[in-house]
Amino acid sequence: MKGILLAGGYGTRLRPLTYITNKHLLPVYDKPMIEYGLEALYLAGIKDICVVLGGAKPEDVIKYLGNGYKYGVDLSYKWQGEPKGIAHAILCTKDFVKENAFVVHLADNIFPDGISDLVRNFDESNCDARILLVKVKNPEGYGVAEIKNNKLVGLEEKPKKPKSNLIIAGVYCLKPSVFRIIEELKPSWRGELEITDTLHKMVTSPKYKVEHHIYEGQWFDCGSFENILEAGLFIKERMRGR
Ligand code: DAU
Repeated sequence: MKGILLAGGYGTRLRPLTYITNKHLLPVYDKPMIEYGLEALYLAGIKDICVVLGGAKPEDVIKYLGNGYKYGVDLSYKWQGEPKGIAHAILCTKDFVKENAFVVHLADNIFPDGISDLVRNFDESNCDARILLVKVKNPEGYGVAEIKNNKLVGLEEKPKKPKSNLIIAGVYCLKPSVFRIIEELKPSWRGELEITDTLHKMVTSPKYKVEHHIYEGQWFDCGSFENILEAGLFIKERMRGR
């Protein structure tokens, strides 16, 4: 399987620090945010990884990560340009993915317990997508799942009235069949090609199979200063325990 780390965008919520460097190089405890995603992919056995860049200070990421040699992975880069949405960023990697199953990891998400369980055997499965759902207190800030009789029946990005408190975390196992949907997708109210809309179309179409797992482990979306602090403190405590 191949891996994709999404590190585009301007990181506006993390200004003024993102005037200095790329959002995904900001520290979470003792290392840049993006290294957690890279490590999670590596530990899941994924060594052929494409980093998608755009927005602010992309050159800093390339300078820092290089060709991936020091991490034991093979890194390549794709240019997204303007942040036109997560699904758009994924579409930019179509010629990297080719016919392979692949894992997309948002570079501002951290899964301290890793993603190996999610990724395992996905390429041999008959699913088009496999996603992680996490229970949160403020679902309206995320992609929210609708569950009926234990079945995933829909997904909605940042809804005013969330249909559950289960949200989609920023890691997605996908097959190349996803590109068919993204290519026909219309931008959302915020002008983006949304991964949530892409997955919603898959969930509601008989042609696609989407599997979901409810994730009980720790998860952080480092898109705000508060969350970066919370993630850093958690990682510090865990390292002390070791
Ligand atoms: O963290 C999980 C959430 O991530 C999901 O629950 C949401 O469904 C999903 O839309 C996303 O929400 P955010 O509003 O937090 O996404 P954000 O715009 O912050 O983008 C997350 C990362 O994705 C960011 O660090 C860089 C990458 N990205 C984003 C966009 C919009 C790109 O590489 N290109 C893009 O165009």
